[in-house]
Amino acid sequence: MPVIAVVNRKGGSGKSTLATHIAAWCAHQGLAVMLGDADRQQSTRTWLRLRHPSEPAIAAWAVDQKNVLRVPSGITHVVLDTPGGLHGFELAKIVMFADAVLMPVCNSVFDRESAAACFAELQNLPRVLSGRCRVATVGMRVDSRTHAAQTLKEWSEKLPLPHLGALRETQWYVRAIERGLTVFDLPASQGATDVAQWQPILDWLAPVLRPPVAANDASAHTAQTTQRTASSLDYTRPAALMPQQESLVHGGRMAAASARAVAVRYTPVAPVLAKKEAAQRSRSFSDKPVIPEFLRQR
Ligand SMILES: Nc1ncnc2c1ncn2[C@@H]1O[C@H](COP(=O)(O)OP(=O)(O)OP(=O)(O)O)[C@@H](O)[C@H]1O
Ligand SMILES: [Mg+2]
Repeated sequence: MPVIAVVNRKGGSGKSTLATHIAAWCAHQGLAVMLGDADRQQSTRTWLRLRHPSEPAIAAWAVDQKNVLRVPSGITHVVLDTPGGLHGFELAKIVMFADAVLMPVCNSVFDRESAAACFAELQNLPRVLSGRCRVATVGMRVDSRTHAAQTLKEWSEKLPLPHLGALRETQWYVRAIERGLTVFDLPASQGATDVAQWQPILDWLAPVLRPPVAANDASAHTAQTTQRTASSLDYTRPAALMPQQESLVHGGRMAAASARAVAVRYTPVAPVLAKKEAAQRSRSFSDKPVIPEFLRQR
């Protein structure tokens, strides 16, 4: 399940604007997308409430009985809006699940400094180091024809970070956001110029938004697990062993744990070995997932 996080320490750099737009674009592509607010300000949650049901649907977090925020069933793509000042462990927890991080950067020396510090931290995180999470910058409220846009591009490429162009400053963003919309939802007569500026961002995101697998797509899990076990087993009860909901927080671990549980339950190995292995495996997947504090509902 692709996860795109919008991150920058600098407050007001355009994170929520970028996140709502990426989610809306996914929704326009017919993807089952969730826009998750990891920001205590809950800006994007407020925006979601303003969004009219007739617009392409974007889900919010689901809340389970234990008051933990989870990715709703059936969601295939996740966009995360994050708070300003995110760093250290909190940043690492977000990036642990991200396939792509977009950093909106305005063109001032303060914004660039702050973004550079954020990238210095990001690039040391294992998921970024290993290339599993890509990072790029987007110029916010910058006219692409100006010296400012060039400065930002050169700065980004020196870091080195891919720079995906600039989004101009315009009231269309402000007005759209106020109505639960994005420039992708506006009629072409109003949104076309701004939609065109998104093209490099969408091109960069395209490989990240790979063909979707639903978080709780029982049929997908069933097909995969059946393939793994069908040759030797009477595989009759996969659905009962599948988690009802997959938490973003522990990502694929639950699915992997379920697969292991299936193997433990059904793999016909020597009885003594099977007992030992089952004990070991159950220990490894019964670990309680650690739910980051900011993902809990207040
Ligand atoms: N391209 C744009 N043109 C005009 N205004 C914009 C543009 N992008 C963002 N803004 C405005 O800039 C302000 C800050 O944007 P936004 O809320 O997205 O930043 P943020 O990084 O999420 O802020 P915070 O750190 O407080 O969460 C908002 O009022 C938003 O409407
Ligand atoms: Mg915000």
